[in-house]
Amino acid sequence: MIFETHAHYDDEKFDADRIELLLQLKAQSIGRIINVGASFRGAKESVELAKEYDFIYAAVGIHPEDQADWHDESRRFIKTVSDKGQRKSSKVVAIGEIGLDYYWEKDPDMQKRQREIFREQLKIAKNAALPVIIHSRDAAEDTLSIMREAHEMGIEGVIHCYSYSPEIAREYVKMGYYIGIGGVLTFKNSKKLRATVEEIGMGSILLETDSPYMAPEPNRGKRNDSGNLIYVAEKIAEIKGITREEVEEITWENACRLFPEAV
Ligand code: NI
Repeated sequence: MIFETHAHYDDEKFDADRIELLLQLKAQSIGRIINVGASFRGAKESVELAKEYDFIYAAVGIHPEDQADWHDESRRFIKTVSDKGQRKSSKVVAIGEIGLDYYWEKDPDMQKRQREIFREQLKIAKNAALPVIIHSRDAAEDTLSIMREAHEMGIEGVIHCYSYSPEIAREYVKMGYYIGIGGVLTFKNSKKLRATVEEIGMGSILLETDSPYMAPEPNRGKRNDSGNLIYVAEKIAEIKGITREEVEEITWENACRLFPEAV
């Protein structure tokens, strides 16, 4: 069984066949899925999907690229559905995806705003005692320093679609954070990510797709879905010298540890 820790099935690319696809994935031994909200709309739709499907859980947060979505209404929504008393019905198991993206945002003032919104959402996670799902692109230093603060606050989480060096991964792992590994690992030019997988222990790895994006080989460039996680698991198995089944089993346990409410 595979625990898919990061997908966006609310995306319009799934509008035509969402129901068939999700039922097919469940039959294909995708045991659990965390649908991750990025925008305000995405956060609301993640909660809706989690209500409709027993094997789907929700993460709610505002992505750094969608900072215009951070306002009173979205803040109130995220706080409400992540509140301990609401979680049985909302099925929210994490705050995310949140973080920093300096690849798409070059303006220093806007980057500063990203850090403020990031910290505000970390505080929500702290108050709700929920783990976080972190997006970080071209912002290695600032993300690491804010995650050190988060660690001090006792916040757990995963660095999703990990793209930095093995050395930085080691820093995260030391603090108990998980590293999200997806389709990129199967790409020819993925030397750095391969080195990261070699560097960290199996106990720190989570499987994720970021569907509909980042499809692994042999489906690179196509719409991604959680069924493709077998290719990622196979690649990890090859690097670690274990079987694909062992990779699925260990990453399943890892995900259950980080997201204990996804049961
Ligand atoms: Ni994502």
